[in-house]
Amino acid sequence: MCQSCIPRIPENMEKAGLFAQQMITMLNHGALVPMISIGHQTKLFDIMDTLDWSTSVEIAECANLNERYVREWLGAMASGRIVEYNPKANTYYLPPENAIFLTRKSNEKNMSSVASLITVWAGVEEKVTRCFKNGGGVPYSEYNGFHEAMGDLSAANVGKNLTEIILPENQSLFDRLENGISILDIGCGDGQVLLALAQYFPKSKFYGIDLCDAPIKSAQNKARIRCLNNITFKQEDLLAYSPTNKYDLITAFDVIHDLAFPDKVLQLVNNWLNDDGTFLMMDINASSHLENNLENPFAPFLYTASTLHCMTVSLAQGGMGLGTVWGKEKAVEMLKEAGFSNTQVQNFEHDLFNNYYFSSK
Ligand SMILES: C[S@@+](CC[C@H](N)C(=O)[O-])C[C@H]1O[C@@H](n2cnc3c(N)ncnc32)[C@H](O)[C@@H]1O
Repeated sequence: MCQSCIPRIPENMEKAGLFAQQMITMLNHGALVPMISIGHQTKLFDIMDTLDWSTSVEIAECANLNERYVREWLGAMASGRIVEYNPKANTYYLPPENAIFLTRKSNEKNMSSVASLITVWAGVEEKVTRCFKNGGGVPYSEYNGFHEAMGDLSAANVGKNLTEIILPENQSLFDRLENGISILDIGCGDGQVLLALAQYFPKSKFYGIDLCDAPIKSAQNKARIRCLNNITFKQEDLLAYSPTNKYDLITAFDVIHDLAFPDKVLQLVNNWLNDDGTFLMMDINASSHLENNLENPFAPFLYTASTLHCMTVSLAQGGMGLGTVWGKEKAVEMLKEAGFSNTQVQNFEHDLFNNYYFSSK
């Protein structure tokens, strides 16, 4: 502590009391996050969605899980008001109104996979804390299960919406995809978005590139299982990539703000496009200015995601550390600096979390 840092005494104890309440709520909600992730991973939410009021023994049996753990988990779910509890019958019930946001049946509304992503990020807390003192960052290799959790989320939220909502809104691009064009997805992760597109547009040719080997192997495997012959995945750093042909469409889903050198990659993307090509970038719906984000309901999540993942993976490579909340203003400016002649930013009601930037070469 520096010498001038004399602990201050609060003057307004009512304000202090309110903050103490807020802290308790935050800690309880924070504690529920890994429990929601467990509910997602064990499929307990999906199973409870098929059951009427049931005991912990019945739920555990249906889920083929250890009853003692399930009962403790149910305690957290009931006191957290996620499931309902009848103490007389000792039974539990997941109301359908809550199930919509917790189960796989309602893919795009399912927020339980986001809880899994938060627990992955929390796994590197100690390493990130060290960076607060020493600088630098935490590389992708330190995250356990990041690409799986990310792929899970993308499959649920992006793939179907692209073909059913986002691309049909851009009719000429949709038509070109139907007729057959070449597409590159940069930072494709385990390929969930590209796999969905390749299946939907069989006449087009899809290429996916990612820095990390494990998600690429997983993507290649999925393409093989689905017998998709119009898709190729390759492990490569974008900065080293040198395509032999130009592309008609290049996509980046939740990638640019993670990159070490997003400015250079945006310039490369511009070079890799045909003259009438389009760059579609899906990125976080936020402002570049903190004061404009204070009322954004996702803001604390976004700044946390940045600190525990997006910013630190970039800094780990000696990069810019742009951060998750680089924002629309900065994004439009960087796209212009990279040489794109025109950028249209679109929002869709189903996805308040992201902006969709359609840029022409
Ligand atoms: C947040 S993930 C998004 C993955 C995928 N687009 C999705 O929506 O599921 C960002 C991805 O960018 C990849 N990435 C980061 N830097 C890269 C680079 N220099 N070259 C290629 N891929 C990179 C990461 O490995 C990671 O898979």
